[in-house]
Amino acid sequence: MTELSLSQVTRRYGDVAAIDNINLGVAEGEFLTLLGPSGCGKSTTLAAIAGLDRPTTGRIALGDRELFNADEAIFLPPEARGFGVVFQSYALWPHLTVHNNVAMPLKLRRMPADQRKKRIAEALELVGLSAFASRYPGELSGGQQQRVALARAIVFRPPILLLDEPLSNLDAQLRQQARVWLKDIQRELGITTIYVTHDQDEALAMSDRIVVMRGGKIVQLGTPEQVYGAPLHPFSASFIGNANLVEVEGEQGVQGDGCIVKLADGQILRGHAPGDRLSSGQQLLSIRPHKISSAPLAGASEIKVEFGTESYLGDHFEQQVTVAGSTLRLTLETPVAHGPGSIWIKPEDAAVFSNE
Ligand SMILES: Nc1ncnc2c1ncn2[C@@H]1O[C@H](COP(=O)(O)OP(=O)(O)OP(=O)(O)O)[C@@H](O)[C@H]1O
Ligand SMILES: [Mg+2]
Repeated sequence: MTELSLSQVTRRYGDVAAIDNINLGVAEGEFLTLLGPSGCGKSTTLAAIAGLDRPTTGRIALGDRELFNADEAIFLPPEARGFGVVFQSYALWPHLTVHNNVAMPLKLRRMPADQRKKRIAEALELVGLSAFASRYPGELSGGQQQRVALARAIVFRPPILLLDEPLSNLDAQLRQQARVWLKDIQRELGITTIYVTHDQDEALAMSDRIVVMRGGKIVQLGTPEQVYGAPLHPFSASFIGNANLVEVEGEQGVQGDGCIVKLADGQILRGHAPGDRLSSGQQLLSIRPHKISSAPLAGASEIKVEFGTESYLGDHFEQQVTVAGSTLRLTLETPVAHGPGSIWIKPEDAAVFSNE
């Protein structure tokens, strides 16, 4: 089993760390996604793995082969690492046909022409572009160009595929098809893939594991079920699943991971603490919009709120309520009349985190 590992990898620009002490192991054949908002360090991490950028400190290895080691001044250039790469700007050679763009990595590797032809045909077939082999990039749509870039990245069967927002140029519907299609290709080739996106749906749909990043750091690493179903950090909860976050105060009366918190207006709510042990004082309460009920629920805490504006979103409504100076979003089949009312929240749906 050849594992790709990053140990204490940091990339500084002046005083600012674009990525800060990243530790990560990627298993052979795994589909791992780096997920986080713009500027959180996703591309920097990918460039460090590809060898397109040199981190300030740390170590990157594939099995026992060191690709980068700051302490021993080891740095393999990208061509020595030999990974398949599709970056945010997936530059194709404009003066070469689709066929010749895809042929380039094989020519660089001095593959004989007859073998080359077979491989290119396979790769173009895989991305559904066999009929476009003699076109030039300028004669293709943005999505088709992205697929050529992907064919070029996989044609030489690299041990690792690095993809930086490779579906960004597709419209919503095509993007959903491309997700399934890309995941199928990855499974078929059994190729270790590191995928970068800021789209939570894409990450949940495609990944074996997701790395949630913020400010150059890893906030949580887990399966889609883990990061969505059991966020360990309020940032994971709000970024994946759009949870409401409310500042609350801790109360005495903790049992197991159950806890009682007080809203700013003094209302009491029962929740649970999935992260580290709570300190007393200021905490953050996280509740997903679809876990808030406008009708009584057994075992749930009742909270008095003010119902406000609703938006129609096709298959449901999203309505705002205010409570203790905070605004919460909830999803409902039918909106509630504006004005005073109640909502109900179960303890298992009210996650309480220490407010760092
Ligand atoms: N050459 C550079 N010089 C200075 N700062 C840089 C440089 N490259 C990146 N950064 C900074 O490092 C941080 C991480 O950048 P990075 O490109 O990795 O973000 P990202 O997560 O890929 O964002 P996006 O989703 O917008 O592509 C950003 O704050 C960025 O401004
Ligand atoms: Mg980026």
